[in-house]
Amino acid sequence: MRWLTPVLALTLAACSGSSPPAAPAAPATAPAPAKAATASPAPSKDVAKTFTPPPADSIPDTPFGKMVREGRAIFTDTQTHAKAYVGNGLNCSNCHLDAGRLPNAAPLWAAWGMYPAYRSKNGHVNTFAERLQGCFRYSMNGKAPPPDSEVIVALESYSYWLAQGAPTGVALAGRGYPKQGFKPPQPPDFARGQKVFETSCALCHGKDGQGQKVAGRYVFPPLWGPDSFNWGAGMHQLNNAAAFIKANMPLGRGGMLSDQDAWDVAMFMDAHERPQDPRFNGNVAETRKKYHDSKMSLYGTVVNGHLLGSGPDR
Ligand code: HEC
Ligand code: HEC
Repeated sequence: MRWLTPVLALTLAACSGSSPPAAPAAPATAPAPAKAATASPAPSKDVAKTFTPPPADSIPDTPFGKMVREGRAIFTDTQTHAKAYVGNGLNCSNCHLDAGRLPNAAPLWAAWGMYPAYRSKNGHVNTFAERLQGCFRYSMNGKAPPPDSEVIVALESYSYWLAQGAPTGVALAGRGYPKQGFKPPQPPDFARGQKVFETSCALCHGKDGQGQKVAGRYVFPPLWGPDSFNWGAGMHQLNNAAAFIKANMPLGRGGMLSDQDAWDVAMFMDAHERPQDPRFNGNVAETRKKYHDSKMSLYGTVVNGHLLGSGPDR
C-alpha cells in the first residue's frame, strides 16, 4: 500500500522524538522595547501569505512537547487514541491531510488563530475547543470530549504548536478548503458524478464507496455508509466536498479533476446515505428546514427515488 508511506513516515517521525536546539538563556536584563513603536505592521501580511508550520520532527522534548505529540497521535490515529469519542471509521487526518499540515486541506495552523469565532451553524461564538468538539460530533459521528479533557488539551497544544509565529485573526493562505469563487460551470449531476467516481475514486475507496480495510483498519476511508461522516458534517455540503476533492483527490494528484468533475463527484458522494444528523428531531423535512435549508445540502431531498436522511439505503 504505497499510499500509506507518507502517513507511516509521519507517524514514525512522531515517535523519534529528536531534540530541538536548546533555547537561548534569558538575558539578565530585558532589552529595551524601543523599536516596537516604529515597527511596521506589514510583515504580518507577508507571513499570512507564506506561513509554514515548523518541521514535523521539531517537537521539543519537554512536558509541553509530550502533549503536542499526544495531540498529533490523536489527530492521525483517532481510532486508537480517542476511541471513546469516535463513532465511525475515520481519523481526523483523513480530511485534514498530512497530519493537519497540508495547505488547502483545512490545516490546523490556519485554524488556530481564527477562534473564538461566531459560527452560523450553532449561532454563537465558538472557542477553538468547541470547534474541535464539532468535528468529533459530526465528522467523526461521535461524542464531544469535555472541553478540559486531555483529548481537547492535546489537540489544542498540537494546533498551537503548528501555528507558532503566525499572526492571529488573519486568514492565512491555505486555510480551509479553497471555496472562494469555486462554482460549478453547470449544476452538479449524479450520473456524471458516478462516472467520475468509477474512473477516479473507486480504485481506492471501493466500488461501493465503503473504503478498504487491512487488518481491521481502514487504509482507504469510506465516503458514505455507516462508517463515514454523518449528515451534520461539513463534508456533506457540496461546496466543502467539491473544494476538498478538487484540491486533494485523487490522493496525491490534487488539482487533476476539472471543476465540473469535482462538483459532480461531490454530488454523487453526498447523495448517498450516511449516519443520521445527531440533531435529528424525528422528522426529515423538519430537520432539513431547521439545519439544512441550503442548496449545498442534499439532506431531505429525493435523489433516484430515495429520500436522503430517511434510512439505511446507500
Ligand atoms: C490513490 C488512492 C485514492 C484515490 C484514487 C482517491 N482517494 Fe480519496 N482518499 C484516499 C486516502 C488514503 C484518504 C485519506 C487520506 C489520509 O488519511 O491521509 C482519502 C480521503 C478522502 C476523503 C475524506 C475522508 C472520507 O472518507 O470522507 C474524501 C471525501 C475523498 N477521499 C474523496 C475522494 C474522491 C471523490 C475521489 C475521486 C475523485 C478520491 N477520493 C480518490 C485515497 C484516495
Ligand atoms: C469527514 C471529514 C472530516 C473529518 C474526519 C474531520 N474534519 Fe475537521 N473539518 C472538516 C470540514 C469540511 C471542515 C470545514 C472546512 C472549511 O470550512 O473549509 C473542518 C474544519 C475543522 C476545523 C476548523 C478549521 C478552520 O480553519 O476553521 C478544525 C479545527 C477541525 N476541523 C478539526 C478536526 C478534528 C480535531 C478532527 C478529528 C477529531 C476533524 N476535524 C475531523 C472535515 C473533517
